[in-house]
Amino acid sequence: MSPTMLQQVDAHHRSLSEPKNGPFTYTDPVSEVPTLSGVDTSVDGSTPIIDMEGLLGPQRSEFVKQIGHACEKNGFFAVKNHGIPEMKINNMLDTARDFFHLPEEERLKFRSSDPNSIIRLVTGFQDKTRNIFVSRQSLKFHCHPVEDFKNQWPSTPPAFREKVGEYCASVRKVEVAILEAISESLGLKRDYIGKILKGHYVSINFYPACQESELDVTYGVRTHTDPTLITILMQDDVPGLQVINDDKWIDVNPIPNAVVVHVGDMLQALSNCRYKSLLHQAIVNCEKERVSIASYCYPSDDAEIGPAKKLIDDDHPAIYNDFTYKEFHESMWRVKCSTAKRLDLFKAESD
Ligand code: OGA
Ligand code: NI
Repeated sequence: MSPTMLQQVDAHHRSLSEPKNGPFTYTDPVSEVPTLSGVDTSVDGSTPIIDMEGLLGPQRSEFVKQIGHACEKNGFFAVKNHGIPEMKINNMLDTARDFFHLPEEERLKFRSSDPNSIIRLVTGFQDKTRNIFVSRQSLKFHCHPVEDFKNQWPSTPPAFREKVGEYCASVRKVEVAILEAISESLGLKRDYIGKILKGHYVSINFYPACQESELDVTYGVRTHTDPTLITILMQDDVPGLQVINDDKWIDVNPIPNAVVVHVGDMLQALSNCRYKSLLHQAIVNCEKERVSIASYCYPSDDAEIGPAKKLIDDDHPAIYNDFTYKEFHESMWRVKCSTAKRLDLFKAESD
């Protein structure tokens, strides 16, 4: 195991806080860590890189093919020339850092364990049964359209609403463009996925530098898939993201000004498993804190999510029944299972 992996913590280290006293009370629905026997945890990955400018030019179909190939083979890819100005990226990352450097009482105003609230702060938590400390702190909020939600966002730091709003509006355009290309890569109409698209939810993730815990293993965020169509992740310059490819963990190190796109659960269902939801996690860094901005793009509540009819034939029977996003979302919070198994509840019987 590489020395940075999951950050082993000595048992004699002081505990940060007891769950009942401190902020570490949130428990997530990711109650199982998938067992990954035989996984090499130290492989340096090579990230497929897509130049988004290519989607605007005469070679669009070639770039669509590249995106389809990356979704099918890797479940993720990096995008450069996405059109989000560097200044907006830096402003977003600076604002995120400023927010998490505010006094705790200021941040805790946004704490909520209700997954349906418009905005909520999620703190680190201890899973004592598995001896795991999950150190990620995140501020999660709805942001599309920006004007409908921004009054509920923090007003401190003072630039929060403006800078975060600018980033959210820009990243939304990237999402729409990528979803169009993904639709086409599946042989579907360009607006197939766009038609069911609704919200956009951002998670500002903050990973303090190597927090201590009495528990054996500290994760940034543990292994999971995202319940989204796609997720667009913007990382600062501190490595931490890892993904599973070909049954191996690989590091997805930050590429300046590029974003990383993940296949999420909804795209797995819609593509009839041609594109698989990406298993990923974040490790902590002992020297530096880390910030990432995850933009989760999800369908409207009543959107029918089963496999696209065009992708079903005798050789490719439907792997999932039709279900609505609302049904999926409710079951996600009700049924405590590993995220990698949550789509199994909607599997077609013949499978
Ligand atoms: C997430 C996530 C990884 C990271 O926010 O869903 O997986 O590197 N983040 O922050
Ligand atoms: Ni994720």
